[in-house]
Amino acid sequence: MTTFRRFRNTDPPALADVWNESHTARGAYPLRTPALLERWLFSKPYFDHAGLVVAEEEATGRVRGYAVAGFAPTPDQTALSFAEGVICSVAVRPGDRRKGVGRGLVERCEAYLAEKGARTFRAGPVWPQCPFGFGLYGGTNCPGFLASDPDADPFFKSLGYTPAGQTLIFQKKLDQPLTMADARFGMLRRRYDTQTLRAAAVSTWWQDCVWGTLEPVEFRLVDKLANNLPAARAVVWELEGYGWRWGFPSAGILDMQVRPDLRRQGLAKLLIAQILRFLQDQFFGICEIQAPADRPDLIGLCRSAGLEQVDVGTTYTKPVPDSMQIPLTRPTGQTPK
Ligand SMILES: CC(C)(COP(=O)(O)OP(=O)(O)OC[C@H]1O[C@@H](n2cnc3c(N)ncnc32)[C@H](O)[C@@H]1OP(=O)(O)O)[C@@H](O)C(=O)NCCC(=O)NCCS
Repeated sequence: MTTFRRFRNTDPPALADVWNESHTARGAYPLRTPALLERWLFSKPYFDHAGLVVAEEEATGRVRGYAVAGFAPTPDQTALSFAEGVICSVAVRPGDRRKGVGRGLVERCEAYLAEKGARTFRAGPVWPQCPFGFGLYGGTNCPGFLASDPDADPFFKSLGYTPAGQTLIFQKKLDQPLTMADARFGMLRRRYDTQTLRAAAVSTWWQDCVWGTLEPVEFRLVDKLANNLPAARAVVWELEGYGWRWGFPSAGILDMQVRPDLRRQGLAKLLIAQILRFLQDQFFGICEIQAPADRPDLIGLCRSAGLEQVDVGTTYTKPVPDSMQIPLTRPTGQTPK
């Protein structure tokens, strides 16, 4: 018999074991210590014991699996939106699969989310609907559940979820010489300088929550003819942990932006070229960028910068059945603690 309960403070070692047995594909890395769960899950200001459901064998108390759920942010990213529930991770030990444990975990997560006011359930965190997952699963950002975890898709479809968006994962190997030629680079280099800022600006409460203790570096192209006004920026972070899985120290590019009036001139490509060169000089072996499937600009940029698609993530949604919806007694936004 399997029983389901909320998280207890003594659970982390067993959860790390389940993680290590379950997440053996490229999208996650082995947890060498449960402290990584503390860093990326339990330390979040909105972490709720009831949102982490643990499945255990009734007779022995052995943990069979767990699932983690939370809420998306409001549009201004200053509070939680309880209308949007997100199931961020589900894992069942290989020997306990296909016995309904995963289904039971998801059903308990759904009950938790609905009880707090959820009007939609999402499975597979994608930025910004990613209360948990960043740093542990998915690489440089939250891409939903990856195709390289082949159990996830049939599992969530069987529970009534439908695909609601995809994210393409691109990587560049840096262990070979970089050749990124573009006729525009000469002119652009004369006008724009590259700056590296050790502490990237964190712009919203939500970004602060999701990124946590990350120390990203910000790369900027600044316009020498306009008092060094920023023309393009990108945030780069070391994908600690993933390097163990991928066999090379790895870094990821997040949140790349080119000023709207300066687009289609090669600035983003130049910025990527500068970042790749910088990472190569620092002995990184892989750089990753993620692009939503509905962003042809970003996908085209990744391809033109020589990155190769290595995986694809999918996020799923499901409306909350009327029978589970509670009347909302409080505003959907909650001021952060
Ligand atoms: C996905 C996962 C959590 C499912 O757990 P589980 O306990 O085996 O799932 P259940 O037994 O509750 O399955 C419920 C239904 O999902 C579907 N399903 C689950 N796994 C499936 C698979 N590998 N292939 C096809 N269908 C599957 C089936 O319809 C199943 O019902 P059935 O057994 O009556 O046919 C588990 O495979 C796992 O931990 N995988 C590794 C981690 C992972 O990929 N997590 C998701 C991304 S974080």
